[in-house]
Amino acid sequence: MSNTYRTFFGLSQEAFPAHIDINDILITPEVQGVKKRFDYAVRLGCSTVITGDVGSGKSTALRYAASKLHSSEYKVFYITASSGSILELYRQIIEELGIERSSNSRALMMSIIKNEIREFVLGKKIKTVLIIDEASLLRMEVFAELHTLVQFEKDSKTWFPVILAGQPTLVDKLQYRTSIPFASRIVAKSHLEGLDMDGMKSYLAHHLKLCGVDTNLFSDQSITAIHQGSGGLLRKANNLARGSLIAAAAEQSMTVSAEHVRIASSEIF
Ligand SMILES: Nc1ncnc2c1ncn2[C@@H]1O[C@H](COP(=O)(O)OP(=O)(O)OP(=O)(O)O)[C@@H](O)[C@H]1O
Ligand SMILES: [Mg+2]
Repeated sequence: MSNTYRTFFGLSQEAFPAHIDINDILITPEVQGVKKRFDYAVRLGCSTVITGDVGSGKSTALRYAASKLHSSEYKVFYITASSGSILELYRQIIEELGIERSSNSRALMMSIIKNEIREFVLGKKIKTVLIIDEASLLRMEVFAELHTLVQFEKDSKTWFPVILAGQPTLVDKLQYRTSIPFASRIVAKSHLEGLDMDGMKSYLAHHLKLCGVDTNLFSDQSITAIHQGSGGLLRKANNLARGSLIAAAAEQSMTVSAEHVRIASSEIF
């Protein structure tokens, strides 16, 4: 799509981008809620779960919470599940540990990981945190085995908090009988809802400010339309907001109307 909307509105960068810098994140009550539970679970060496619909801001809230852990004190392993198998999970952790993988054996990989974690915590005095994003993709076998990874039988001082984020189906998976040993270590849950109208208003203004615009380009009707069209979900709101700016610029209108949002909505899913 054309970039002329940026010139028209005098935007210093692409509006509502897919990736946002940690320092540019809007600290909403939802983000604060995730951080509070994240910190609590890390402090106790337990687990927490963050759920929310697609594009509700889970990964962003997680990145924000993790960024506040001091790297001199914490080693964070950030894994994104894709195939969802236990072998993939172990491989990714081993890669994050910077170890050359010498085996495909599940038992051996687990033992390597546990030894390294023990070395971090007891040897280097650095606390470890495992974050698994897209955890709703994990297969049931992973939930059944995860507790054995975080449990250090002979050493109660060693702990390995696990933070899971994913779509709401993650909760169903954690309720299975085989997941209970791991689920019993969960001490807090956050569910990210879509933003309400006031939240959406602040969110749109925040993103405009990131582009160097202090005036509100969105009419009240357009904010209502973006809120309704996105269900308060941020990725969809981003696409509607950017698309409606483009539609307004095409008509040389300095204010975005509900009709511009309607035009934008015809381009997206
Ligand atoms: N607090 C925030 N401040 C500013 N922008 C945000 C914030 N939270 C999310 N966003 C933006 O909204 C979009 C969706 O966020 P994010 O990718 O974190 O959602 P998600 O719930 O992890 O999505 P998915 O379900 O696809 O993994 C991103 O473009 C992100 O930059
Ligand atoms: Mg995500």
